[in-house]
Amino acid sequence: MVLLSKESSNKYITKINTQHDSSTTEPVFKLKIFSNQNVILLFKKKFIFRLKFCSLGRYLTKTAMTTSSSLHTKRLLLGITGGIAAYKAAEVARLLVKKDIDVQTVMTESACKFIGPATLQALTGNTVFTDLWDSRINNNMAHINISRDASAILISPASANFIAKLANGFADDLLSTLCLARNCPLFIAPAMNRQMWEHPATQRNLVTLQRDGVLIIGPASGAQACGEAGMGRMLEAQKLVEEMLIFFQPKLLQDKHILITAGPTYEAIDAVRGITNLSSGKMGYAVANAALEAGAKVTLISGPTFLEAPSGATLINVTSAQEMFSAVKKGLSGTDIFISVAAVADFLPANNSNQKIKRTSSNISLLLAPNPDILEFVAKTPKPPFCVGFAAETENLEKNAEAKRRRKKIPLLAANLVPNAINSDKSELILFDDNGKHLLPEAPKIEQARHLIKHVSLLYEKWNK
Ligand SMILES: Cc1cc2nc3c(=O)[nH]c(=O)nc-3n(C[C@H](O)[C@H](O)[C@H](O)COP(=O)(O)O)c2cc1C
Repeated sequence: MVLLSKESSNKYITKINTQHDSSTTEPVFKLKIFSNQNVILLFKKKFIFRLKFCSLGRYLTKTAMTTSSSLHTKRLLLGITGGIAAYKAAEVARLLVKKDIDVQTVMTESACKFIGPATLQALTGNTVFTDLWDSRINNNMAHINISRDASAILISPASANFIAKLANGFADDLLSTLCLARNCPLFIAPAMNRQMWEHPATQRNLVTLQRDGVLIIGPASGAQACGEAGMGRMLEAQKLVEEMLIFFQPKLLQDKHILITAGPTYEAIDAVRGITNLSSGKMGYAVANAALEAGAKVTLISGPTFLEAPSGATLINVTSAQEMFSAVKKGLSGTDIFISVAAVADFLPANNSNQKIKRTSSNISLLLAPNPDILEFVAKTPKPPFCVGFAAETENLEKNAEAKRRRKKIPLLAANLVPNAINSDKSELILFDDNGKHLLPEAPKIEQARHLIKHVSLLYEKWNK
């Protein structure tokens, strides 16, 4: 028996042609369900919680990344709903297209009041769909067809109304129907006034969506278009696009345990002074991010930095080389790959003082003792993980780097020149392995880190055989 509402029946009877979509493609992705712990946490903090669900591509399983042919073509369905932040969607689309992602836009009726479909069409080069009853689709089933070959759907911005619809499975317009009739991951980037965000109904809906495996990116806190300040700002376009790019990274190191050290160490001379170096930690954090993108389980042991912890990594903060050494020894069991990026101080004051050393008018001398060589220690353990070293040199880069690799008996070493790399957002790297050297010309550190992780995955596979 078929039951039709009056409105729907009219539309079906007059417009739908009989050709059927015969696609029976099974869903090729699997989403990990968030732990109970996360859900409980959200309930407890329902009015003030910050969604830390970012970097959500990481939750996709290997199956998703290796079996879906559409991933190779990188197709994204960008859904825009009615909110002030709709203007940011244009920039999201522009940046995604720049990264060679084919963007198909679908807008709600309200979204069209904030930004014109023509803008999105011009930016993406694709027709923008807004209507459930669009007869341009051959079989008149826009509600199913448009998301068929998408690798993912991103709703940006996601209005409070649309979140409520998603949480309750409503399908009363094209975009909400596509979200139900999908076989790919769904990402949402909420954007709304802080009171709308904090409302128990919105919070309940978000928890429901999380349980359903919907991936929530943001929001951020800050000044809002309404003049208030608080939680609910959509993430900036650049950040959103970074999150989506993570999703598109191949999962080369799925579930491998990677231990990474990053940043400088600080060796105390007295209660207020110490020896440290100019390392910012940017490269180590970039490597941690790239490893997470590749599906690895990452433990990041970090010296003092001003960087934001990569979401998804287990972060262990340390100060001195000794502390870093202890943390590495503790974290070593079960580690598949160890990447030593930290600029560990070679020396520490042999006789440091707990009190502030008083000023004197005569010279005082500082006796330095060697710190442990953490990488060498790990490489010499009876069953070492695959070890990757970093070398920052001021001269004879290639000679010194390859000598270091051989001395430490490690399969891979990444070298860079100190003046170019330290504290910079970019670097030029040379990778040394048993096959020789491989130049990675200057690029942002995250890109270098992705190249490095790809190289590591290739070597690791052979090394592990
Ligand atoms: C000027 C204006 C700004 C709005 N901004 C937002 C917003 O930022 N976030 C939001 O969730 N709703 C906002 N709304 C309300 C939504 O547009 C409204 O709930 C609408 O029904 C959403 O439709 P949609 O979810 O189908 O796109 C705004 C409404 C107006 C009139």
